Amino acid sequence: MALRFEVLGRFNRARAAQLTLPHFACQTPLFMPVGTQGTIKGLTTDQLEEIGCQIILGNTYHLALRPTSELIDELGGLHKFMNWPRALLTDSGGFQMVSLLHLADITEKGVTFQSPVDGKPMLLTPEESIQIQNRIGADIIMALDDVVRTTITGPRIEEAMYRTLRWVDRCIAAHKRPHEQNLFGIVQGGLDPVLRYAIGGLAGGEDKDSFWRVVAQCTAALPEDKPRYVMGVGYPLDIVVCSALGADMYDCVYPTRTARFGTALVPEGVLKLKHNAMVNDTRPIDPTCACMVCKNYTRAYIHCLVTKDAMGSQLLSYHNLYYMLQLSRNLHSSIVEGRFVCDFLQKMFPKGDVPE
Ligand code: GUN
Ligand code: ZN
Repeated sequence: MALRFEVLGRFNRARAAQLTLPHFACQTPLFMPVGTQGTIKGLTTDQLEEIGCQIILGNTYHLALRPTSELIDELGGLHKFMNWPRALLTDSGGFQMVSLLHLADITEKGVTFQSPVDGKPMLLTPEESIQIQNRIGADIIMALDDVVRTTITGPRIEEAMYRTLRWVDRCIAAHKRPHEQNLFGIVQGGLDPVLRYAIGGLAGGEDKDSFWRVVAQCTAALPEDKPRYVMGVGYPLDIVVCSALGADMYDCVYPTRTARFGTALVPEGVLKLKHNAMVNDTRPIDPTCACMVCKNYTRAYIHCLVTKDAMGSQLLSYHNLYYMLQLSRNLHSSIVEGRFVCDFLQKMFPKGDVPE
């Protein structure tokens, strides 16, 4: 069996579980850093293990273009290629093409797009996406889905939902390694309460009320004994809220992307290291954080590096990922202990003010 999901504790709708995958037994709620090109920008795989990262997300689309799935396969799979012994997940490619290439066009066959390498028209079918992901060899692979923006309304949403369902059958038929790799389905459906059954296509600019409502609806309808993954989410608050609503897995570029813009995640919200107030601030980024960066470096030093030297964004990425992983660990232990992470909300909203 390529996956085991054991719920270890519950608090209302929240669950804490152990998700056992071929390369690692992960604790949920689970945050998955995004390593699009087979690397988490700025961190070595040793550092990722050091901060307790359990699973990394890679992208089929990027890896298929460079270094190509054939080469990864020939060199022994992505785990070996990037020297990452723990779990991996690859996204199927459709979402990345639609969000990156405005020229992508979706038909029943698959996603047609212009190659960014030579401009030639290319087609990614559900069968090809699975074949590429079989070669890459991640513990979890994703079905190719028809992604539409949540801000779109009308029959296109219904079409995307049904097409994604038809495509998942083609993905299942094409999957050659079901004993080593788990194929996750994604059901689209926008924000329409009648259409939606599972959790993709969110965090695309919809308001928080709609987003959280859809997650609540999906977790209520999805099987109890399977992991529930909210794709492309999210901010620390979203992860806390979605976990309270019964979701288990998340991925987001936010902690590393925001690090490259000089922003640190802290219990009070964010700390902008570019601010002039940091020039002579000898405190660590977060005095309550136990990470290597907070143990060794001052805000003043990071302020000096940020935007001037790659080390600035590397140190901030390290701290930000540590923060997200620590938040996941706190969620897990608080649910197992039958409470919820009350201190998280108290620190982030000390005046009891509600976001948005
Ligand atoms: N990443 C964020 N949202 C999505 C989605 O709806 N589908 C896929 N495949 N990846 C995503
Ligand atoms: Zn830190």
